[in-house]
Amino acid sequence: MKKVYIETMGCQMNKSDTERMLGMLAHFDYTETTTPEEADLLMVNTCSIRQLSEDKAFSLIGTWGMWKKRNNPNLKIGFCGCVAQQKAEEIFKRAPYVDFVLGTHKIYSLPDIIQKVNKGEKVCECTETHQTEADREKDYEIKRVKSTNAWIPITEGCNNFCTYCIVPYTRGRERSRLPETIIKEAQDALNDGFKEITLLGQNVDSYGKDFKDKNYRLADLLKDLNALDGKFRIRFVTSYPTDITDELIETVVKLDKVCEYFHIPMQSGSSEVLKKMNRRYDRETYAKIVEKVRKIVPDVTITSDFIAGFPGETEEQFEETLTAIDEFELDYSNVAAYSPREKTVAAKWVDKYIPEDVKDERFQRLNKKIQENCLKSNLKFVGREMEILVESFYERKGMFINTGKTRNNKTVHIPYDKDLTGQFVNAKITGAKTWYLKGELAEK
Ligand code: SAH
Ligand code: SF4
Ligand code: F3S
Repeated sequence: MKKVYIETMGCQMNKSDTERMLGMLAHFDYTETTTPEEADLLMVNTCSIRQLSEDKAFSLIGTWGMWKKRNNPNLKIGFCGCVAQQKAEEIFKRAPYVDFVLGTHKIYSLPDIIQKVNKGEKVCECTETHQTEADREKDYEIKRVKSTNAWIPITEGCNNFCTYCIVPYTRGRERSRLPETIIKEAQDALNDGFKEITLLGQNVDSYGKDFKDKNYRLADLLKDLNALDGKFRIRFVTSYPTDITDELIETVVKLDKVCEYFHIPMQSGSSEVLKKMNRRYDRETYAKIVEKVRKIVPDVTITSDFIAGFPGETEEQFEETLTAIDEFELDYSNVAAYSPREKTVAAKWVDKYIPEDVKDERFQRLNKKIQENCLKSNLKFVGREMEILVESFYERKGMFINTGKTRNNKTVHIPYDKDLTGQFVNAKITGAKTWYLKGELAEK
């Protein structure tokens, strides 16, 4: 048996790709190790959403290159994921000790690549033609990370070309996977004991737009998955604001397994900035969507993403982002300082770049606002009894804690000395902190 170590950076899509790659490698007698020092094959699954994530990948393989040179000339090193897709052969110039470069479109070539690499060849597989659904469905296992939740990609790629974003260049055009493939994967995960299915896509709510032979969208998929036997939860991320249909919102309410949670990135609270970002909505349109979701879905949690210091963003425009978080009562948001990305439109507006110190200061102010609102949002649930799916169990300062999530994606810590991981429990919410709720087991 050989050992493989994969360091995964970036979003859930990359994590899901890693689980698939580990499944393929298992066919070639590679077992996963969590200790890179003992691996025969080291792989990094990279993210290029910001410069920092790209830099991290190069710094990591730098270390691995050194190990190879000093200790183990037979060590194989693979560079995969979004940076690979974008830079292809360039990687070999920058890091000659890399044995193969594998882009996001071609992960199903990994078995071929491994055979070539083990014969001493160098391989770069980064063409932009995506492998077909048939290629993807070879009977490889998926080596899912041990957890209560199984990630299932339903659509990949993006057609939106927001002016700051690299994803359309690293993941290509939008492609929906076939319903039957997704349903089978979900059933397999449930059979394996997973208690939650999270459907993944850069824009999960545009699922099915590209089907020419059928009218089958996210709401239809949710209905079919909801019909599978057993007690489990269904979630989906990420929603593009204007692709959330009334039917989808109503379906979420109707289906008992689909959770009351929407991740709807707004990016900026200013309509002018949104226009420059090439987002297809303004502040008012976003407001209407959020209002509708809140009205129809009881207890819904709505989270968002924001970018601080987009090129040309004025102080007033930035303040509109702060007021948006309050006005729309966003329960939680991810924030990033704008990072110029190669090939994207906004990266060319060099004269409009916001100085690093200003970006950083805005980033801090945004985070402070988000923390305040997160606590406010959590306080609403104190005194309520909620259903929690326990995800982990640990000891802290002599106390045993079960941690899990409510249907509306709030984290709850429940002191209890038995491991309830994987179980649905009811708990009374007794307190709220910024990042979690405290609960007491209601029955057991
Ligand atoms: N498809 C989703 C977002 C996917 S990318 C959507 O449209 O909302 C995840 C997040 O990374 C984005 O929401 C954005 O906030 C952030 N992001 C993307 N490109 C960025 C860049 N160049 N600089 C900083 N943050 C960026
Ligand atoms: Fe990037 Fe925009 Fe596509 Fe989201 S919708 S992945 S931000 S281009
Ligand atoms: Fe990063 Fe690629 Fe995901 S750029 S955020 S890993 S799609």
